[in-house]
Amino acid sequence: MSVWVQAHPQLQGRALVPGCGLGHDVVFLAEAGYESVGVDLSATAIQRAMATHPGHASRFVLGDLFALPEAWKGSFDFIFEHTCLCALPPHLRQAYAETVGQLLRPGGLLVGVWFIEPEMDPGESGPPFGISLEELSALFPPHAWAVEEDYIPEQAYAGREKRERLRALRKIS
Ligand SMILES: C[S@@+](CC[C@H](N)C(=O)[O-])C[C@H]1O[C@@H](n2cnc3c(N)ncnc32)[C@H](O)[C@@H]1O
Repeated sequence: MSVWVQAHPQLQGRALVPGCGLGHDVVFLAEAGYESVGVDLSATAIQRAMATHPGHASRFVLGDLFALPEAWKGSFDFIFEHTCLCALPPHLRQAYAETVGQLLRPGGLLVGVWFIEPEMDPGESGPPFGISLEELSALFPPHAWAVEEDYIPEQAYAGREKRERLRALRKIS
C-alpha cells in the first residue's frame, strides 16, 4: 500500500480505510496528505488506534462498514483495502463490494492489496479467507469497475510474499 501511495504522489483526497484495525494505514495516508478516515467494528481496535495515534484520534470511527452513515455514501475519492475483505466470511463479499461501491464517488479509486494465495493447513478454512483472482474479478465486474493497476507487490508482510495482489479499481459510474 505504501509503495502504491509513494508511486502516486500527486493524488490526494478523502480516503476510507475499512477495517482499519490499529490505524497504521490511516495515519500513513494522513501523513501523505490524504483526508483519511478509518472505520472498525472493534471497540478495542479503535481505542488502541486512538491511544497510539492521539494526534489522529478524530480519524478513527467505531462502526460497521455495512451500516455507515448515509451521508458517507459517494463521499470518498479513495478506499484503501488491506486485510478487511479477507477477515470477512465469504458470504459477505458481495455486500462488501456493493458497500465500497456506494461509499466511493463515481470515478473514485478502490486500491486493494488482496489476499489471493492463502496457504491453509489441512482442515483450516480461515480467517483470513483468501480470494482467487477469478472471484475478485467477478466481485468487481468490468461494466462497473476498470482495472487500473494489477500486480504482485514486491513488498509484503512476512509470510505473505507473492500471496498478495495489488489491484486498483476505478468505479466507472
Ligand atoms: C485483519 S484485521 C486488519 C486490520 C488492518 N486493516 C491492518 O491491515 O492491520 C481486520 C479488521 O477488520 C475489522 N472488521 C471486520 N468486520 C468489520 C465490519 N463489518 N466493519 C468494520 N470493520 C470490520 C476487524 O475488527 C479487524 O480489525
